[in-house]
Amino acid sequence: VYTRKCNSFVIPLCQDGLVPSSLAAVLASLPASGPARPRVLYSIVTGQNPAGVSTTVERKKEIYALAQQHNLVILEDDPYWNLHFGRVPAPAPAMATAGATAEAAEAEVLAAYNPPTSTSYLSLDTDGRVLRFDSFSKILSSGMRLGFISGPRAWVEQFNLSTQALSIHPSGVPQVMAARLLQQWGEAGWRKHVKQTKLFYHRKRDTLLAVMAKHFAGLDVEYDTPDAGMFVWVKVRGLGSDAKTLIEDKAVKEKVLLLPGEAFLVDPAAQAKAHPDELYVRACFSVASDEEMDEAVRRFANLLRKETEAKKNSKTA
Ligand SMILES: Cc1ncc(COP(=O)(O)O)c(C=O)c1O
Repeated sequence: VYTRKCNSFVIPLCQDGLVPSSLAAVLASLPASGPARPRVLYSIVTGQNPAGVSTTVERKKEIYALAQQHNLVILEDDPYWNLHFGRVPAPAPAMATAGATAEAAEAEVLAAYNPPTSTSYLSLDTDGRVLRFDSFSKILSSGMRLGFISGPRAWVEQFNLSTQALSIHPSGVPQVMAARLLQQWGEAGWRKHVKQTKLFYHRKRDTLLAVMAKHFAGLDVEYDTPDAGMFVWVKVRGLGSDAKTLIEDKAVKEKVLLLPGEAFLVDPAAQAKAHPDELYVRACFSVASDEEMDEAVRRFANLLRKETEAKKNSKTA
């Protein structure tokens, strides 16, 4: 948005996703016509990066109605759609029993696993005002940087032309990898893979939340339970607003890497001014093992304790 010098407005998110009343308020506050009126709503709808929340179908319907009323195009960025698992805990990994191997028991757990699937804006679209973006990067292999768009034919064709002008096409190697895998799996194999992957991330989410609850005890730290994706968005109070220095200078020394919240804030300076004693970091539950997550959160929590202590001492000195 910034590199394109777009005029943008920020709409807050909460546990149920984008807040329709905030969108309505922003739209109502603008002149009724002219260049100041927004034409596009961009939204990461499932497992929002970094907040980890998904916009509920009820909210999507309200937001779609607002888009109709104000003639907005909805850009539905949804790379985490296949990683929607809900807020309830994941089923525990199955153990071998006298009658069944661990693999057979786990296959039964998977067969009974019934995670949610979110309804897309595209499926609600009756006017041809939604352009949807899916990705294979989060479900087949990270770094594939391969996805697909769906929406009105004329827009998709325009998008194709624009891609030809920018990069010709996505790299051929990931395209062949994805095509061959999908051909080999067929629909049933794809669905099984999606379910297994959801369960994998669902369990990782539970592990990260459990180790956070253990190590963050007593610290002024706040976070929600993500219902999809691979991120937990953490608010830390009492250590100023500079997450970048905390992570890049201090956490890295402890060999812990989280993403400083500044990377996601629309206006970090304004945020720091409004909330000088809040900082944000994004924790990720993807490649790290359960043991690594435990150790990383332990080290990060210790760093927060050390910093809190140092701050207290500097105030009393
Ligand atoms: C919201 C969002 N959109 C798009 C992408 C990029 O997807 P891709 O790997 O298909 O380029 C990411 C993450 O990489 C993301 O978090």
